[in-house]
Amino acid sequence: MSSSPHPHTFRLSPVAYEALTDHAAAEPELYWEGESRRLNWNAEPSQAYCEKQGWFADGALNASVNCLDRHLATRADQAALIWQAEDADRVLTFTYQTLHEQVCRLANVLRSQGVQAGDRVAIHLPSVPEGLIAMLACTRIGAIHVVLFGGFSAEAIADRLVDSGAVLVITANVGRRGAKRIAFKTALDAALDLHPEAHTVRHVLVVSVTDDDVSMQADRDIWLSPLLKDAAPDCAPQDMPSSAPLFLLYTSGSTGKPKGIVHGTGGYLVWASYTHELVFDHQEGDIFWCTADIGWITGHTYGVYGPLLNGGTVLLFEGMPSHPGPGRWWNVIQDHKVTTFYTSPTAIRALMREGNDVVQRYDLSSLRVLGTVGEPISHEAWSWFNDHVGGGRCAFVDTWWQTESGGIMISPVPGAVREKPASATLPLPGVHPVLLDERGTPKGGATEGVLCLKGSWPGRALTIWNDAALFERTYLQPYPGYYFTGDGARRDEDGYYWITGRVDDVINVSGHRIGSAEIEDALATELAIAESAAIGIPHDLKGQGIVVYVVPRDDAPDDLHLRAAKAITSKVGRYAAPEHIHVVPDLPKTRSGKSVRRLLRKIACGETEGFGDLSTLADPEIVATLISIIQAPK
Ligand code: WT7
Repeated sequence: MSSSPHPHTFRLSPVAYEALTDHAAAEPELYWEGESRRLNWNAEPSQAYCEKQGWFADGALNASVNCLDRHLATRADQAALIWQAEDADRVLTFTYQTLHEQVCRLANVLRSQGVQAGDRVAIHLPSVPEGLIAMLACTRIGAIHVVLFGGFSAEAIADRLVDSGAVLVITANVGRRGAKRIAFKTALDAALDLHPEAHTVRHVLVVSVTDDDVSMQADRDIWLSPLLKDAAPDCAPQDMPSSAPLFLLYTSGSTGKPKGIVHGTGGYLVWASYTHELVFDHQEGDIFWCTADIGWITGHTYGVYGPLLNGGTVLLFEGMPSHPGPGRWWNVIQDHKVTTFYTSPTAIRALMREGNDVVQRYDLSSLRVLGTVGEPISHEAWSWFNDHVGGGRCAFVDTWWQTESGGIMISPVPGAVREKPASATLPLPGVHPVLLDERGTPKGGATEGVLCLKGSWPGRALTIWNDAALFERTYLQPYPGYYFTGDGARRDEDGYYWITGRVDDVINVSGHRIGSAEIEDALATELAIAESAAIGIPHDLKGQGIVVYVVPRDDAPDDLHLRAAKAITSKVGRYAAPEHIHVVPDLPKTRSGKSVRRLLRKIACGETEGFGDLSTLADPEIVATLISIIQAPK
């Protein structure tokens, strides 16, 4: 492997990296036992992995102690969290000492509200420090956090509260978005009113982000800040078994119902620390900015756990990339001397459009590592980010992973792995990808296939909440002996991986996973719709956009488009709003009644020929009908 083209000094040399890879492959048990020493254990695990019991099974530890307490001796006055408010003049810095204190106070508040180890606590907050504090406060007392993305609709929130059995919710009166206010508390109220019998929420703690008033239900809702003031600044941590769930995080799959992915404590934390250090070349003094919302796994692993476990400094930004004007993000990097910047291809595509002169106005020389995640990045976006933001000086890590993997799986390692624009490059030491053909046979050399993983790794999800059988069916049974990722990939002659996208019915909109079935289930609740199909098509900014076909019942109302759109945004959320809704008389189906998505995709992309053999369709004529509807001037 050629040496790094970058002027920086990175932690790992190509030789050292190769030694890690070899060691992890040859002696996995020893390798992971070594890596487990990144953490402080109350009971050291006697074994790294065992198929029956998972990772570090007989170990015991506390997550918040690992993120905070154990740094106090050496880093008490170092910034752990820098919060940049939307208002440029407002910055809050929490040192490890003050963050520890805030976390303990909130943990005490949770205990005083009756929350016990193993209980689920939902967190529904905008990008304010309380989000990170709440996550760690839960872990302090062994409660399982369930962060709910701010963009979810009331119904989506309600479903997740019921499924997780949350006993308490931490929310905000509102979120700030420029001059707009996002009604967090009102959305939660609506969610709690939807299934009053089914949910188990006893208390709602409300963070006052602004002084906006909201309605408070006397026996249920409490403003958080007075409680925090009165709470003790110290809180004895709960000792937790390594395999205890640390958090649930809901994600979409090919079935309609979102799945509560369960991550464990010991294995997940080892993976968060290991991957953060390796992939982001973590060094003393780094300022780490991950732009993902804490409502997604990226915000969990790299917005909170990874950097704090490694004694780093996290930057959290409340605002948007281009508010109040273009260049806001670059301004934040300049002001806080960000060294490590982790974002999404979607954001890069949008920022690219603002033009190069915007970026050039800022001093971005503090940057050392740039990272992307969530979707394949194009060569063009990769080069723009690398050249104009990174000034050609930075390491670039295109990181492939997923909610279920807990942390990064395939990615360059700065200084050690030669990058190729738009390739996620090589698996991290200890990760073993395979490409399979349709029959599940591994393919060797340069090839393309279904991306699976051989063996386990510490960050792997434990199960799906309330549905262990679904976990088996989704990830372990499709290709026996392997973990099925849902993605397809190509491997080139250098062994580099190029992710080609989902092979299941999951649509990736701006890096957010949305299941076709989730949208179709939402549409099924609209009585005027007989059936529907949702598919993803390429979209310049979002990566993929959603197109839906709806078949009306006989007496279709005139406002069917509107009703369809509303069914989706109210059941799923604003982020799932479709680009196009086509009202059609029928869908192309096989004789056994299965919609043929391949055809629906082609038609939605404006293709008019090359559909192949249509004779297997129940009604081959339908293809021409759909084409004429989609091509008709609107
Ligand atoms: C899916 C996982 C991992 C945190 C963000 C998304 C796609 C992820 C890449 C990448 C190409 C990528 C895959 C994956 N994906 N990273 N670097 N290149 N595709 O987490 O919501 O669980 O989605 O995102 O399709 O399966 P997620």
